[in-house]
Amino acid sequence: MRRLVTCFAAAILAFGAAAQPAGRTLFNDGWTFEKDGVRKNVTLPHDWGVDGPFMQKYPGESGKLAWWGKAVYTKTLEISPEDLAKDIDLEIDGAMSHATVLVNGIDLGGWPYGYASFAVRLNPALKPGRNTLAVRIDNPEESSRWYPGGGLYRNVWLTKTNKTSVAHWGTYLTTETGSIDKETNRADAAVRLEVTLKHAGEKTVGMVRTRIFRQDRYRRNGEATVVNRIVAETRSVEYIEDGKTVIQTFDLEKARLWTPDEPEMYIARTTVETPDEVLDTYETPFGIRKTEWKPDGFYLNGEKTFLKGVCLHHDAGALGAVWNDDAWVRRLGMLKEMGCNAIRTSHNPPAPELLDLCDRMGFLVMDELTDTWTWPKKEHGYAELFDEWAEKDLVALIRRDRNHPSVILWSIGNECGEQGDSTKWWIPQMLTDICHREDPTRPTSAGNDNPWASSQPYAATMDVYGYNYKPHLYAAHAKTGQPFIGSETASCISTRGYYRFPVEEEKDRGWTMDTPFQVSSYDLYAPGWASNPDHEWAFEDQVPECAGEFVWTGFDYLGEPTPFNMDPSVLTNFHTEEEREAFKKMVAGWGQAIADVPLPSRSSYFGIIDLAGFPKDRFWLYQARWRPELPMVHVLPHWTWPGREGQVTPVHVYTSGDEAELFVNGKSQGRKAKDGYRIRWDDVVYEPGTLKVVAYKGGKPWAETATVTAGNAAKTSLEVDFAGDDLLFVTARLLDKADAWVPTACNPLSFKVNGPGVLVATDAGDPTSHTPFHSAEIQAFNGLCSAVIRRTGPGPISVTVRSDGLKSATITLP
Ligand code: GAL
Repeated sequence: MRRLVTCFAAAILAFGAAAQPAGRTLFNDGWTFEKDGVRKNVTLPHDWGVDGPFMQKYPGESGKLAWWGKAVYTKTLEISPEDLAKDIDLEIDGAMSHATVLVNGIDLGGWPYGYASFAVRLNPALKPGRNTLAVRIDNPEESSRWYPGGGLYRNVWLTKTNKTSVAHWGTYLTTETGSIDKETNRADAAVRLEVTLKHAGEKTVGMVRTRIFRQDRYRRNGEATVVNRIVAETRSVEYIEDGKTVIQTFDLEKARLWTPDEPEMYIARTTVETPDEVLDTYETPFGIRKTEWKPDGFYLNGEKTFLKGVCLHHDAGALGAVWNDDAWVRRLGMLKEMGCNAIRTSHNPPAPELLDLCDRMGFLVMDELTDTWTWPKKEHGYAELFDEWAEKDLVALIRRDRNHPSVILWSIGNECGEQGDSTKWWIPQMLTDICHREDPTRPTSAGNDNPWASSQPYAATMDVYGYNYKPHLYAAHAKTGQPFIGSETASCISTRGYYRFPVEEEKDRGWTMDTPFQVSSYDLYAPGWASNPDHEWAFEDQVPECAGEFVWTGFDYLGEPTPFNMDPSVLTNFHTEEEREAFKKMVAGWGQAIADVPLPSRSSYFGIIDLAGFPKDRFWLYQARWRPELPMVHVLPHWTWPGREGQVTPVHVYTSGDEAELFVNGKSQGRKAKDGYRIRWDDVVYEPGTLKVVAYKGGKPWAETATVTAGNAAKTSLEVDFAGDDLLFVTARLLDKADAWVPTACNPLSFKVNGPGVLVATDAGDPTSHTPFHSAEIQAFNGLCSAVIRRTGPGPISVTVRSDGLKSATITLP
């Protein structure tokens, strides 16, 4: 089983990783990668695009990185004569894109959709001894609205199973609960398991045995102890033939229910046996929970539960599309801290390990198929594949993911153009029917942006209606009785630590089309179709039937740097054809072609957290709403404004309290109640010193915070942000001589790693930076920078950061 994490108890996380057949091993090491005539050795997961360089001439829309092209990965595979008696499969969690698998030059098939997981049987071309395995990739340009990455960017597995064993994704487990004891969060549960077998040759008799394990954790003599207990067992003696499905049932008394706060997991361990041997062992981790979608919202275990969700693209910032457990434990941990309980895997199937983490860390997931049906958004996008592959991709997604307790919704698409064409509504209906056939326990949904479609029979092609940026339609929808969510909300844009004055209210006044290509962080700004969070919430609060929201987006991502994304092919930047034409005309007036407008941005401004993993102000706006019980207060902007003395510098406060008093150098600026979702002092006159705020709830002091004016940067400091088994994330801060953090400092930094570790990436979260992510030299951005280090062996690692003229810092990581 894969190694995992340290920030949560490793024992808890290691229990219940993905569905695992025995004989399945990671197959990531020792590959050769060849592209454009250059060969190198690589360890998977590998994304050939993320190394860069960033090129100004490449579209910002997909990250200004070269992720397209043709390439081949090769590896030697030693096969013993005994192995040849088994089925040998290469399982690829995701290959971007159009992958073909070859053994000894023989084409064994592949899969075009870059986000799908698939398996290829290698036996027809294998011989005993050395075999050459190759995976060819052909990733077309103009195929994505964001950065997709390129190559074998997720895990690859080699699976050797007996001819008689559980089939690929061959278990389907569902649960039903009796009455729920709310005190203990337990209920009697009926578990039903379908086991589909594969078998070669004559029908035979065998036994399928499944044991259900629960993990008990307790402290003994001060030590944490973990015991896996068998809580149920069923044996079925059966005729075994290829494709046979065996159904087993189990009654669990007082089972522990899965919730985001207490994500209790069980494991069903299935063995296929003859009287003499165990032919196969297959584990299905699962959780027991009751989900209900009602006209007035979503219920989990009988409790109305609002989905406090975020949309996420699949990249992990400076690591590109590469899947990494540690990077995502860190990211999900930050989202938990914010109060987020749900994730939408926009707009494609996620890495399977993301769902393992969601199961074990407690997130509810809207698992999405695609950004496009047949109406193209990009010349070589999914519309090219839809007719032949949509059903196969959807079946693959559901069979892979339907045992995860975290998954609560199948999303069949996002903003598909067919919403507006009633002759095409058979498409969503067909996709919903496939979902119901493959998994009758979960409803379907989609992200919809066409306001007309929502009042048409189109709405009935899915079970739970999803609104992208249309909160004003919630009230009317509530009257229809169909459950609904905000499948995409806000799309507020901002740059961490950048504030523009004067502060203007209109949502398009947070940036200019000239330098510095940043967006003001007062959290008031958004592109035409979008809004600030406050606007969305006003509607949510008027319409309690709304089952939840998925904010666009949790983290900044590579590509789509709206509003500095004026590639004329991106209609969503303009909303209408007319707007796009108007912009073209304006640019022509500057004597330029639209494509020549030198926009440097390569990553988004939509994130609540920036690309490097530093929270923007908005993080605390969401935390204040989503964790009302947590005493917290946040103040913005920072208070280091040399040159602004005497000028009006509005101050906004985000708090889970209901009132606050603001002080500038001890002088009260007044105590105010929350008006909407924030507290504002719009006339504060800047003077250097201390900005302090005391928040109150129910009249009692609740939380306080302060920020001080910093001088020039004089030193660097380093701290550990996240320590995983594989990756360590370190934060560098720029401080003045009195140790105050300098929120405006952008000094050049240089990182050095000593000991058993290597520097993998640096990033400071500046959406306009073209410094390659693997560079050890990087400019800090607004006072911060992140460095990612990979452990290469046991022992302490030391990291040093230097900057000319500043005192350097070293940290030793245990
Ligand atoms: C939506 C779209 C997302 C993203 C977002 C930006 O319309 O579904 O993929 O482009 O806009 O606001």
